[in-house]
Amino acid sequence: MGCPYGYGSLPKAELSVESRIGVSPSEKAENACPMKRKHEEVVLGDLSSRSSAEVRRSRKDPLYYADYLKLDKILNAQEPLSWKAKDLCHDELLFITIHQTYELWFKQLIFEIDSVRDIFECLRLGEKQISTALHRLNRVKEIQKILVEQIRVLETMTAQEFLNFRDYLFPASGFQSVQFRLLETKLGLKLEKRVNQDFMNKLKEEDKKKVEKALSEPSLFDYVERWLRNMPFIEFRGYRFASHYKEAVEKMHNLDSCALNRMLEGEEREAAMKDLASTMEIYESVWDKDVHKKQKELGARRLGFRATNACLMIMLYEDQPMLQLPARLFQVLVDVDDCLNQWRHRHTQMVHRMIGQKIGTGGSLGHRYLKETVDRHRIFSDISNMSTLLLPKRFLPELPTTLRDQMKYFHSIEPYDRTLFELGGGGDNVELDWTFC
Ligand code: HEM
Repeated sequence: MGCPYGYGSLPKAELSVESRIGVSPSEKAENACPMKRKHEEVVLGDLSSRSSAEVRRSRKDPLYYADYLKLDKILNAQEPLSWKAKDLCHDELLFITIHQTYELWFKQLIFEIDSVRDIFECLRLGEKQISTALHRLNRVKEIQKILVEQIRVLETMTAQEFLNFRDYLFPASGFQSVQFRLLETKLGLKLEKRVNQDFMNKLKEEDKKKVEKALSEPSLFDYVERWLRNMPFIEFRGYRFASHYKEAVEKMHNLDSCALNRMLEGEEREAAMKDLASTMEIYESVWDKDVHKKQKELGARRLGFRATNACLMIMLYEDQPMLQLPARLFQVLVDVDDCLNQWRHRHTQMVHRMIGQKIGTGGSLGHRYLKETVDRHRIFSDISNMSTLLLPKRFLPELPTTLRDQMKYFHSIEPYDRTLFELGGGGDNVELDWTFC
């Protein structure tokens, strides 16, 4: 019997975990993890139980386009309820088609996000794996753009045209889209952060279990945090990023407060100084664990102390060769988060146009509920908020030469200690910590 987690058991012709995450067989052996997710089960269904010989054998009969794409199933899956009731509402077909198209794309998005989570599940992360993750997240972003654009097609239907068949839909709603919940959850949206957790009670038992399973597994956010926490460079042979950063911030703060004192007077000066002091508290969270903890408790931060430091260091020194890929990764994570938010926003706008202030077919407050999810359901806001902590280049402390040398790529002629990055740790005084917060 093959490995219960699918290692070595998938037929060659089919998708293997390694091919999806870009890890070679030897790397795979080192990464073998008994907890390996097997989303082939979810995505490929019974295909994974067929051997490559069987798949090839079936190709003795010439493959036919419609059969390959299972068009008989897809194109016969639109059954407008108004048509069944002989109340022929022309626009219901569009309504169904667009929802089905969304669900197909959601499936693809979940597949891509799962493969990126697989990549981050490995403890050995090198440039190759990060590049693959980036590549797939870029695809996610491009699909999301289509999802946002598609709303315009639905908006060719008027509110009156929608109302003509809306009653047939009760109590079904996008609120029950399991794939959308899986997508949000796998990216990192926690149940307790949601505006309304009632959607769980509206799901069928089997769907509820799928969401519960996803909630019990590490999300992409969790994996990124773990990876950041184990970045070696924030403490390296006597160098401590937080201390150097603190010095630079204090220097900048002093100059800023001198300038404000000089330029402003009275109440205006008082208000500006107050603003400066509150921004200083945000900066302090980088070197003062208690301030960081307070911000976490207030919900202003989600990333842990060490991960926040690593994230900031990467963004500040993004032009260092070794930090370029991680910096690009942050950018695409923020893009994905933004795109999801843009979809939420556009969907909310469209809902307002279709049903005004009416409650939703799923029983929520409709437009008012959806409006609240925009922004509150953001996932990677820690990374976008990091901009507050960035410093102009003139204040940025120079990195020690020994550290800069370690950050060069291996094609550099200078000696390079690959283990530092690939093991996700290994720098001085770094205890590797692979747990999840
Ligand atoms: C006429 C078009 C549409 C209307 C009037 C509409 C209305 C609503 C309303 C009112 C909600 C809130 C839950 C509820 O009480 O029902 C909702 C949620 C949702 N809808 Fe739509 N919707 C439309 C089209 C779509 C489309 C095309 C999709 C694509 C899949 C979609 C996906 C969703 C999802 C995923 C949610 C859950 C959002 C969340 O809880 O954050 N909707 N919709």
